[in-house]
Amino acid sequence: MSLFNVYPLNPIAITKAAGSRVWDDKGQEYLDMYGGHAVISIGHTHPHWVKRIEDQLHAMAFYSNSVIMPIQEQLATAINDVSGKKDFQLFLCNSGAEANENALKLASFHTGRKKIIAFKKSFHGRTSLAVAATDNPSIVAPVNETGNIIFLPFNDIAALQNCFAAQGKEIAAVIIEGIQGVAGIYEASISFLQAIRKCCDEAGAVYIADSVQCGYGRTGQFFSHDIAGVNADIYSMAKGMGNGFPIGAILIAPHIQAKFGLLGTTFGGNPLACAAALAVIEVIQKENLMALAAEKGTYLIGALKNTVGVTAVRGRGLMIGFEMEAGLEDLRKVLMNDCKVFTGEAKPNVIRLLPSLAITMEGIQLFLKSLNAAIQQLKQTHS
Ligand SMILES: Cc1ncc(COP(=O)(O)O)c(C=O)c1O
Repeated sequence: MSLFNVYPLNPIAITKAAGSRVWDDKGQEYLDMYGGHAVISIGHTHPHWVKRIEDQLHAMAFYSNSVIMPIQEQLATAINDVSGKKDFQLFLCNSGAEANENALKLASFHTGRKKIIAFKKSFHGRTSLAVAATDNPSIVAPVNETGNIIFLPFNDIAALQNCFAAQGKEIAAVIIEGIQGVAGIYEASISFLQAIRKCCDEAGAVYIADSVQCGYGRTGQFFSHDIAGVNADIYSMAKGMGNGFPIGAILIAPHIQAKFGLLGTTFGGNPLACAAALAVIEVIQKENLMALAAEKGTYLIGALKNTVGVTAVRGRGLMIGFEMEAGLEDLRKVLMNDCKVFTGEAKPNVIRLLPSLAITMEGIQLFLKSLNAAIQQLKQTHS
């Protein structure tokens, strides 16, 4: 074994996938309520997505960002259209961390300032500034430590206002997840997002909406932050954007101006990634997936609230977290090993559901049946 051992692995090798189903190398089928960590937006191996990538592969796989790329322009127009941010500009990269890294850097260039406000329990990625703005000291290397990040309590308007009152002219950006994912599914309140917009406007700071996990239609709106009815200055995206093909991006408000050399990347915006991302948007629109995500999410959240053994349910659309009563700590393991259902987790006691937006009602019913069976099984073991 020569892999660098950084992941605690489930002993399962997935070799085939379709829609919200995956199969291991022994042919065992699993229901995927985790979407490979919120990445599978339109369903595994969606035929339109496969064809778009295949066609692009045959036509032209790669050229550098030194020539005109019509497919990047098509993608920018499609994102303007699906997100409703008609006059925003697109910068393409390869991952969520890179998207946030570029967003933070751009905010600093734009304002000429250094300080960043981030929030307790946030996760923004593992590159240098993104990880510094992540509230988890165990993944911040000594070289990434900086005095430029101010961590404030989440959803605390007074703390935000006090910080701006004291240091407003030094603040380059506020970065916030619309729904904190890794933390265990906590929604930013509407009034908090509005307060961020107001503070940033007054101080000339940049509001960055980290939409890497909560965006791309998962909550029923393209960006979950849009629930507050105010625009951010920069939206970061990745995960669901390529349905498994690596791609990330930032969507930038028109008042932030580009300059040659300000940002750059070799692979960002490569034609294969753009083809995958265009396929995702085409399917989201054709299959009405945002509205369906909202509808199915509401149903699933309602059903979870009525499930015996579940003590708290949070989230919106198909970004859901729930907590269990004592004695059910092994629920996720039982779901995977005995019921053949993949879910996500957040320590210490949250199960995260991040299925494809195209999951069927049949898939949701199967999940609920499996959940009840797993809870029963655990309760019997303990009685
Ligand atoms: C909110 C959020 N931002 C950023 C990232 C980092 O994305 P990536 O792993 O693609 O670098 C993640 C990953 O989980 C995330 O959940």
